[in-house]
Amino acid sequence: MLIFLIVVVVSAHHVKSGNILYVSVAPTRSHHIWNRVLAFGLANKGHNVTHLTHDRDEVKPVNYTQIYVEDAYKVAQHTLDWIKLSRSGILENIFGFVNMCDTICTVALKSRGLQQLLHYPREFKFDLIIIDATMGSCFYPLIHRFNYPATIAVTTLLLQTTIAYNFGYNLQPAYVPWYGLPYTTDMSLTQRWWNYLVTYMETAVKNLYHNKLDNESAKKVFGHDIPSVEKLERHISLLLANTDPVLDNPQGLVPNIIPVGGLHLEKKAKELPQDLETIVGGAKNGIVVFSLGSIVRADSLDKQLQKSLLEAFSYLNETIIWKFESEMEDLPENVVLRKWLPQSDILGHPNVKLFIGHAGSLSTQEAIYHGVPLVCLPFAMDQHVNAQNVAHRKLGISIDYKKITTDYMLENIREVLNNPIYSENVKKVSRRYRSRLNTPLERAIFWAEYAMEHDGAQFLSTRARDLPFYTVLGLDIFALFILACVIVYLATCKMITFVVRKFQNSVKLKTN
Ligand SMILES: *[C@@H]1O[C@H](CO)[C@@H](O)[C@H](O)[C@H]1NC(C)=O
Ligand SMILES: *[C@@H]1O[C@H](CO)[C@@H](O)[C@H](O)[C@H]1NC(C)=O
Ligand SMILES: *[C@@H]1O[C@H](CO)[C@@H](O)[C@H](O)[C@H]1NC(C)=O
Ligand SMILES: *[C@@H]1O[C@H](CO)[C@@H](O)[C@H](O)[C@H]1NC(C)=O
Repeated sequence: MLIFLIVVVVSAHHVKSGNILYVSVAPTRSHHIWNRVLAFGLANKGHNVTHLTHDRDEVKPVNYTQIYVEDAYKVAQHTLDWIKLSRSGILENIFGFVNMCDTICTVALKSRGLQQLLHYPREFKFDLIIIDATMGSCFYPLIHRFNYPATIAVTTLLLQTTIAYNFGYNLQPAYVPWYGLPYTTDMSLTQRWWNYLVTYMETAVKNLYHNKLDNESAKKVFGHDIPSVEKLERHISLLLANTDPVLDNPQGLVPNIIPVGGLHLEKKAKELPQDLETIVGGAKNGIVVFSLGSIVRADSLDKQLQKSLLEAFSYLNETIIWKFESEMEDLPENVVLRKWLPQSDILGHPNVKLFIGHAGSLSTQEAIYHGVPLVCLPFAMDQHVNAQNVAHRKLGISIDYKKITTDYMLENIREVLNNPIYSENVKKVSRRYRSRLNTPLERAIFWAEYAMEHDGAQFLSTRARDLPFYTVLGLDIFALFILACVIVYLATCKMITFVVRKFQNSVKLKTN
């Protein structure tokens, strides 16, 4: 009886192992780290994962195959100049991002890696396709090529509203700041005006301009008879988004958008390599980590700015570990340079007191997860909203990198180091985030398997996905309502005039 029960229980939870195609072509190291956690997680659950990606990994799980998209990394380094972007306007930011996606797509679509995948036998069957939609919409025709298996999307850039919108998400510009604006959830009327304008404008740019570029470039590779990008996107049922209501601004999600924010965060920080452990563990006055992530190269910063930073650091008692991509002369004794850092593991070390970063989504999540207060130097795009979020909740401070002088930097660093409010707040948020039913990775794997088992789970999409925006927003009803009011008003006026005239006439008649 017991054995029978066990067999029943086990088989009830058993999901048959599937053949999964994972496509993630956003060529930055941090995006790969995020996607790799999910891809490896699925392979470790017994699925056969084929991962089309820009990165190569030495250590891989069993039944996990990487197909390498060459060259796009180099292109990405040259197409987006973050320093230039930080000095330009909103429109340039929006179009800059779209054009970067297009450039990367053009290169990635020509890659030998994609050709290898396209040469799979016609009858080769994938049970599930997972596409990182952050920059990967030009790869949607793979859904057509592999005959429409269940397909889900992921996005590593928190919740990109342009992507979410096409999954039935209601834009919420009244209280959710657009990612590239330095606003918080409390917006003034003017701020809301801009926020509405930019949020809707970006969605329009995505649907009218970006989709067109994707259409064009995809046709060159997949053939002219492929369905449009919009049609293929409609086949994708779920969106796993790197957002979390505890870490980011809470917002209303629809059932087919699953928050898996912080999926890449390890349960426990791994041990550091020996040389770093000696530095981090041995620092008597604690550690400050300084990193501008994988996209803003610190060595491309203005020389005077680098000098001011170094001078500010030299006044600190703490040891500073700076992720710096080349060499630097005249380093103060307490500054250590490294070309690459196992960032999350360092931030998990109890000796770390402060993280100075560009407020990229992934690194901000890492710092908060490990309870390390921040000094943010946002450059562009989502960095602004992350930095404001940190400052607004007093998890740290956000400063304008263009204003940096030695004193300004030192003053802000000292404020965060010496005022315990920041460290206390960030530790509180970290504890809140860790109180949860299951980890984001478990959630993501569950929903991937769910989509595979239930034929894509389209039934979770709200009707909003198929309705025009004016119907979703109720604008047509408002228009009707106003029209009705106008008609009633006019009719009433007419009636009153009519009655008054009648009355006057009768009065005239009588006096005559
Ligand atoms: C790898 O795939 C094979 C064939 O599908 C399967 O029999 C085996 O159990 C898988 N290995 C792991 C570790 O999942
Ligand atoms: C697993 O994936 C690899 C790489 O795509 C593929 O060659 C292999 O045939 C797949 N295995 C099964 C059992 O489908
Ligand atoms: C993409 O191409 C399809 C036809 O293949 C067309 O119907 C659709 O309007 C195009 N999308 C855009 C945004 O141009
Ligand atoms: C730094 O170290 C010096 C000498 O040990 C000490 O006097 C000073 O108070 C320390 N500064 C801070 C901010 O802890």
